[in-house]
Amino acid sequence: MYSPLRNTVWPTALALLLSTAIFQRATATVGVLDIDDLLHTKDQQTFSSDDSDSPWSHDPHCTVSTSLSTLGRKYCVYTSNFTGPTGISIITTPRIAAAAAPLLDDNPLDNFLTPAQAEALYFNAPPYKVVDVPEKGGKGVVATRKIRKFETFMVDQASVVVDMSLERAVSREENWSLLRVAVERLRKPGVVRELSAKHADGREEEEDEGEEELLGRLEEDVMMTNAFGSQIAETKFRALYPLVSRINHACHPNAFVLFSRAGISMAVKAYRDIEPGEEISISYVTLGQPYPRRHDALKRWGFTCTCALCSLPTQEKTASDVRRSLIAQAETKIIEFWQAGKPTEAIDLTHEAIEIIKDEGLEHLLTDEYALLAKLYLLIGEREKAEHYGRMSFDLLADMGFLGHDVDRQRVELDIENFLEMVGDGMREVRGTYVQEAEDEEV
Ligand SMILES: *[C@@H]1O[C@H](CO)[C@@H](O)[C@H](O)[C@H]1NC(C)=O
Ligand SMILES: *[C@@H]1O[C@H](CO)[C@@H](O)[C@H](O)[C@H]1NC(C)=O
Repeated sequence: MYSPLRNTVWPTALALLLSTAIFQRATATVGVLDIDDLLHTKDQQTFSSDDSDSPWSHDPHCTVSTSLSTLGRKYCVYTSNFTGPTGISIITTPRIAAAAAPLLDDNPLDNFLTPAQAEALYFNAPPYKVVDVPEKGGKGVVATRKIRKFETFMVDQASVVVDMSLERAVSREENWSLLRVAVERLRKPGVVRELSAKHADGREEEEDEGEEELLGRLEEDVMMTNAFGSQIAETKFRALYPLVSRINHACHPNAFVLFSRAGISMAVKAYRDIEPGEEISISYVTLGQPYPRRHDALKRWGFTCTCALCSLPTQEKTASDVRRSLIAQAETKIIEFWQAGKPTEAIDLTHEAIEIIKDEGLEHLLTDEYALLAKLYLLIGEREKAEHYGRMSFDLLADMGFLGHDVDRQRVELDIENFLEMVGDGMREVRGTYVQEAEDEEV
């Protein structure tokens, strides 16, 4: 059977910014003692810079966790100062570093652009520039020419990636020290340090702090206010993309980000046409959340949501929130209807959800809704409709870059079952019930 999606980039971390529950797979990190890390003391040699095969440019700089849940687990800074525009430092355990090492060669140009596109983007001046945006208290990025809807106009590679489990494994001081080493070993540490608001302000720090500590705190501040959640080697990381992090937040952004499959590089694509001089924006939180959740999520990034949508008069904000809650709840309701043997209701509700999503301008959510609709039609035997909506989902996924930049859409003959299998992780419940019922009937 011909699989349209084979050999294409399927971003693993798209759950962060661009998904509904359909794509969300919770990967709980359980704090258990990792025996492997304790036994493999030769990890240090395997990745020392004496080894000519080593992907790292420096010897790992390590600390051992004294927290109860991660007791004895070793965390190290691994740096490859020749990778990407700034070099990359990874803070994680030796085992995960070994798994992540082959992924370092994650050139965003290959991941997100055809050679012709890469050339057009980088041989001419890039279609954006970083400027001061005093009213937002820092920098921002504006378009220098018209950028077309769904165009990939910026790519970036992570500089510092920090294992999320580190947060609870080490003390603040150890954290600072690891971060400081991670940044100073990069080829261009300044690119990271400049992202600090404190650095930008030229604000004086409290006097009794030593210089070394100050540096570590600066790096922590940069990570806390700029890093994205990403998934690398099946592990959750905070990843800093220095260029992308210059882009400011908006609740109705004109652009969105896409992670590479390896989770190390990132592309920024236009969500709609962007005019020259217009500020480029992305959503720092999952798009489509109602105000209170949006507000809370944004606080983590160190600011209060004051964008157009958050600043709407209360009545309009409430209306928007109601629509967003409806969208969020629709999926559960749809599955409930389906499980209760009410396929017509399930399909009607999916159509309604699509209209509300369009009203709220959350077009990216439609990929899931179209796929769900295709699934429902397929299960009730309306194959033609299933194929129609399957194609709409596929086309939107391709437009948004989720199928890789080299998918030849005209040549793809969509195999609907296969396609739904690929996108349908979260639709398992729908299928599960159906199969079960069908079997029950046969008995
Ligand atoms: C360590 O630094 C990270 C940023 O990389 C931050 O999110 C976290 O809160 C810090 N943890 C501690 C214990 O200070
Ligand atoms: C990269 O790291 C190596 C080993 O520490 C060092 O000799 C080299 O100067 C560094 N290169 C750059 C460009 O920072």
